[in-house]
Amino acid sequence: MSFQLTEDQLMIQTMVRDFSRNVVSPTAMKRDQTKEFPAENLKQMGELGLMGMMIPPEYNGAGTDTVSYVLALSEIAYSCASTAVVMSVQNSIVCESIYKFGTEDQKERFLKPLAAGEIIGAFALTEPNAGSDLVSQKTNAVRDGDFYILNGTKRFITSGKNSGVVIVTAVTDESKRHKGISAFLIKKETRGLIVGNTENKMGLRSSDTTDLIFEDCRIPAKDMLGKEGEGFMIAMTGLDSGRIGIAAQSVGVAQAALDAAVQYSKEREQFGRPISKFQGLRWIIADMATEIEAARQLMFSAASMKDRGEKYTAQASMAKLFASEMVNRVTAKALQIHGGYGYIKEYPVERFFRDARVFTIYEGTSEIQRIVISNHILKDKRRPNN
Ligand code: CAA
Repeated sequence: MSFQLTEDQLMIQTMVRDFSRNVVSPTAMKRDQTKEFPAENLKQMGELGLMGMMIPPEYNGAGTDTVSYVLALSEIAYSCASTAVVMSVQNSIVCESIYKFGTEDQKERFLKPLAAGEIIGAFALTEPNAGSDLVSQKTNAVRDGDFYILNGTKRFITSGKNSGVVIVTAVTDESKRHKGISAFLIKKETRGLIVGNTENKMGLRSSDTTDLIFEDCRIPAKDMLGKEGEGFMIAMTGLDSGRIGIAAQSVGVAQAALDAAVQYSKEREQFGRPISKFQGLRWIIADMATEIEAARQLMFSAASMKDRGEKYTAQASMAKLFASEMVNRVTAKALQIHGGYGYIKEYPVERFFRDARVFTIYEGTSEIQRIVISNHILKDKRRPNN
């Protein structure tokens, strides 16, 4: 591997790999069928420091860098993409947003239990009619003395049902477009916050994705995250980090698919020899491995830029775009190598193929990533890597 990992990073990778393969992997296939939330895995991950990895220890985090985080997340995704997406949302767009923009009181009340993994966090941004076009969101927050009153519906919220805290964005001043959107921290038990429909998804089936409905939901003004009008910027900042996480999920699932395909190709015999001996198949395996390595290096590059404090928006989008499209190609090839056995649920490649499908969609579609990347390249001041 060309990217030089430190002793600490290698230690974290080994520790999480052992945990993932021994604890997370054995139940992944069953949970895909039953849709059971991986609560026990996540509890243990909290104890291992995996739920607030980049948060300093004074707020119950593990205080690691982003490179360590993507290594850990890839290892969890290798065994179970459903568990990985919960870890990803919790670490990046939830914990980091509170750490970066929260008051000391908010860090005490919300960040500490989240980073310790005692509760799960969600970020409620998307709406039925506002996904890529987040500025068009309709959920609104109206000031009433020391409170804001929220009304509206959020859709496709990861951990919507199983979370204890939600960061929600709402319009506080429609005339100001993206500068009229604010963010709020809300405990799930708050009156007026209702968990709506749980989606029946193609993949990531043991992670819940729900509607969250706000009906005259009163939130103390002190629980606004950041200042009024900073919600869109907070979400965009969180998504930069989140997108590196999707690249890490993609690399983990792709590596699992490649390993399964390699093992199967050595065991499966046709025409009197293992199918791994056929050049047509060896070339497919070579392409899969090369694509995974390219995605891994893009993931490391974006994570390192973040760790060095550089602006990494475009690099995160490049990593997310390439890795999420790569894993869709790689899981399809792994399934093809398995032939008929790839199409049945006894083999894990069928799950990898379904789980990977959403990676080019959530936290910004491939088309949105191309907008972000081209904007940065065409505007000289934001051009990456020059
Ligand atoms: N960091 C900080 N601020 C940013 C930013 C970033 N990465 N990107 C943009 N902004 C700010 C800009 O500075 C600008 O603010 P100012 O006017 O104050 O300077 C403002 O946002 C608007 O910026 P642009 O003009 O560049 O934005 P745009 O409107 O042209 O494009 C977009 C924005 C790229 C299309 C953006 O809306 C976007 O990324 N949309 C996709 C949203 C998305 O990822 N949705 C998925 C939902 S989350 C999810 O999937 C949930 C889950 O549970 C997994």
